[in-house]
Amino acid sequence: MIRSTDHPALCHVAKISMAVTRGYRRIGIGKTLLLAAEDWAHLHQIRKITLDVLSNNLPALKLYEKLHYDEEGRRKHQVIINHQSHDELLLAKFLTS
Ligand SMILES: CC(C)(COP(=O)(O)OP(=O)(O)OC[C@H]1O[C@@H](n2cnc3c(N)ncnc32)[C@H](O)[C@@H]1OP(=O)(O)O)[C@@H](O)C(=O)NCCC(=O)NCCS
Repeated sequence: MIRSTDHPALCHVAKISMAVTRGYRRIGIGKTLLLAAEDWAHLHQIRKITLDVLSNNLPALKLYEKLHYDEEGRRKHQVIINHQSHDELLLAKFLTS
């Protein structure tokens, strides 16, 4: 999913969230979806894409690194899973025209 807002101060930004069904991973679907989202963003005059990812989510981090998303913040102990807290990283990519 990629979504933006029509608020004039924020309409240049869109946020992505994504998941590929287990069993269909590691065959290029995630990368294809991300590139399709970036195409949509270009078409809608989006200049910045953001997303949140757990700091221990290595598959996702590898994918975002490969497509040149940069870390721009960290929410410490933001998510608790099975009594274990995890940081959430804020990633972003600026699109060039
Ligand atoms: C993250 C996720 C969307 C990746 O989707 P995918 O379809 O498996 O990714 P792709 O096959 O397009 O992989 C593209 C690249 O990402 C990296 N990558 C993806 N999965 C990886 C893994 N398990 N280990 C290491 N690198 C990985 C690799 O660089 C890969 O390129 P390569 O296969 O040529 O080496 C998928 O693992 C997923 O749905 N995870 C659960 C939900 C989730 O974490 N969503 C993101 C939350 S922000």
